[in-house]
Amino acid sequence: MQNIANDPASPALTITTPAGSYAVLVGPNLLHELPVRMRALNLSGTLWLISDSQVFSHHGAPVENLLRGAGYRVESYAVPAGEASKDLAVVSKLYDWMIGGAVERRDAVLALGGGVVGDLAGFVAATVLRGIALIQLPTTLLAMVDSALGGKTGVNHPLGKNLIGAFHQPRLVLSDTSMLATLPARELRAGWAEVVKHAVIRDAGLFQELEALSSEFKVLSLEEATPTQNSELKIQNFAQVIRRAAKVKVDVVNIDERETGERMLLNYGHTLGHALEALTGYGTLLHGEAVAIGMELAAQVALRMELWGPESVERQRRLLHAYGLPTAIPAGVDPAHLLELTLRDKKVRAGRVRWVLPAAIGAAEVRDDVPEDLVRAVVESAGTARPAD
Ligand SMILES: NC(=O)c1ccc[n+]([C@@H]2O[C@H](COP(=O)([O-])OP(=O)(O)OC[C@H]3O[C@@H](n4cnc5c(N)ncnc54)[C@H](O)[C@@H]3O)[C@@H](O)[C@H]2O)c1
Ligand SMILES: [Zn+2]
Repeated sequence: MQNIANDPASPALTITTPAGSYAVLVGPNLLHELPVRMRALNLSGTLWLISDSQVFSHHGAPVENLLRGAGYRVESYAVPAGEASKDLAVVSKLYDWMIGGAVERRDAVLALGGGVVGDLAGFVAATVLRGIALIQLPTTLLAMVDSALGGKTGVNHPLGKNLIGAFHQPRLVLSDTSMLATLPARELRAGWAEVVKHAVIRDAGLFQELEALSSEFKVLSLEEATPTQNSELKIQNFAQVIRRAAKVKVDVVNIDERETGERMLLNYGHTLGHALEALTGYGTLLHGEAVAIGMELAAQVALRMELWGPESVERQRRLLHAYGLPTAIPAGVDPAHLLELTLRDKKVRAGRVRWVLPAAIGAAEVRDDVPEDLVRAVVESAGTARPAD
C-alpha cells in the first residue's frame, strides 16, 4: 500500500518554534511507524495514553498492543467522550493517576483522540512535573488539520471556553487518516469546514482539489452513511487533501507561533461562528457547522465591502454544500441577538470587531473597519434555514 508520508513527493511536514522542531505526519496506515519515530526522539520512558471512551473503544487496543510489542510500558486512561471532559476536575484526576503511578520527567503523554483529548492531554503534559513530552495522535479531521498542530492546550472554565491553558508543543504529530474510518459522518463533515477554511484563506490549489473531489465526497457525506461506509479506500483518496490542509496550519504556525498576526487568519468564519455556537447552545451545531455558516456570512460581508465578487461567494457556498455543510442561520436564531454576541467576541480590539475576510480564493486579510450597519444588513438579509435545511 502506498504510504504518502514516506513518499518523497510528500515528506513529513515540520513545525519549528523557539521550543524546537517537530514532524507532522499525515497519511493512511501510518500508526505502525509510531514506535520507530518515538525511539528516534529518544523517548523510552512510560507512555501515558490519554483518550476518550469512544475513541479508545475503536483504537485503544491497537495502539497499546503496538507500543507494548515494541517494549514500551503503556498506561491508559479514557475520559468520557465530549467537551465536558475539558475540565479542571478531569485534569486533577489525570494528575492523581499519573503521580500515583510515579510519572517521571522522561515519560511522555500520548493524546489519542479529537480536539478535546488533544487539548486536555496536552494541558496535562504541559503542567505535570512542569512539563513532559507530548505526542499527538489526532483521530478527528478537525484535530488533524487544526487542533493537534501548533501547541495550544487547555481546558474550559465555567465562564468560558478555553480560558485556562498553556502553549506546549508536541514532539510529534502522527495523523493516521485511516482512523477517520470510524469517525461519525457528521463529525467528519464538520471537519471539512476547517479544510475549506484553510483553502479559502491560503491555498487556492487546495480549493480546486476540494472542488474536484466533491462529487466523490457526496457518497461519504450522506446522512445515512454509517461509519463502515466511510471505507478506507475512500478515506485514502482524501489523505492527500487532508495533508495539504494541515500544511496550511503548519505554515501559519511557523510564521506566527503565538497568534499575533498571521494566525488570526485561522479565525475565518469563527467570529459569527462562535456567536452562533453560543446562541444555539453548545452542542446544537457542531463547531464546524457553525464555522461553515460563519464563512458564508463573512463572505457576504466581503461582498458588501467589495473585497470579493459574487462568483467567489457562490463557489464557496457550493463547496460547503458539496461537503454536506450548512450555510443558513438556523431557524429560531434572532438576528439582533446574533449581532450583539458577535460584537462582544473576544477578538474585538479597541471596540472594533476584527474580521477575517477573503480577498481572493486563497488569500484573506484582517479588517477592523467593517461598519456595524453592514454586518447588521448581512445578518438580517441572510435568512434562516427552513426546518429541513
Ligand atoms: N488547540 C487548538 O488549537 C484547537 C483548535 C481548534 C479546536 N480546538 C478544540 O477542539 C475541540 C473539538 O475537537 P473535535 O471536533 O475533534 O471534537 P472531539 O474531540 O470531541 O471529537 C468528536 C467526537 O468524535 C469522537 N471521535 C473522535 N475520533 C474518533 C474516531 N476516529 N472514531 C470514532 N469516534 C471518534 C469523540 O469521541 C467525540 O465524541 C474543542 O474543544 C475545541 O476547543 C482546539
Ligand atoms: Zn475552528
